[in-house]
Amino acid sequence: MINKNIIISPSILSADFSNLDYELKKIEKSNAKWVHLDIMDGHFVPNITFGSTLIKCIREKSNLFFDAHLMIENPHKYIEKFAQCGCDLINFHYEATKDKTSDVINQIKNFNKKVGISIKPQTNVKLIEKYFDKVDMVLIMTVEPGFSGQKFMDFCLPKIEFVKKHAPNNILIQVDGGINDKTARLVKQAGANVLVSGNFVFKAKDLNLAVKSLL
Ligand code: DX5
Ligand code: ZN
Repeated sequence: MINKNIIISPSILSADFSNLDYELKKIEKSNAKWVHLDIMDGHFVPNITFGSTLIKCIREKSNLFFDAHLMIENPHKYIEKFAQCGCDLINFHYEATKDKTSDVINQIKNFNKKVGISIKPQTNVKLIEKYFDKVDMVLIMTVEPGFSGQKFMDFCLPKIEFVKKHAPNNILIQVDGGINDKTARLVKQAGANVLVSGNFVFKAKDLNLAVKSLL
């Protein structure tokens, strides 16, 4: 059964970077309508991935909804780049903005992009409650950001419940880290409606079957 209220956003961090065109086609043919783009700078997280140049190239090849997850310091310096290369949603980390959070939200909105705010597993969700009615999406990380293939941290589940209870009804609640067919059930039960998945969907023999098993 396909649950139309749930969005799956496969993370290309686990894809074959030498064959992104093919990997994107696989997502397009599946029940996933989004693609999750993990941008890491080697400062905010101990890993480096890719930036707006690569996104611009794949934008020309794909109509998927581009869900950009910025794991970078000083996101305000790069919003324009990520807006112009064709991201549909720009999601930054509260830990990287703190007192500049409202400015970054407005900056993203001024480019007519959807806005997401993220928190790491150790960050208290109450710190971002005042932004719930200003963003389109809240991302509750369920692993320490930086790498795919890590184990799901179930102590983050109450934070999903908190967002569900206190945020506007139409908010997107995204979960990222260690999502598979078992943990998907737990996060959906807690109120999540956008599930990122890297390893589980890309290491599966059949990506679409794996995507379906998360719905
Ligand atoms: C981790 C990234 C995730 C990662 C998820 O920092 O933000 O999006 O790709 O990978 P899995 O699903 O393998 O945990
Ligand atoms: Zn991510």
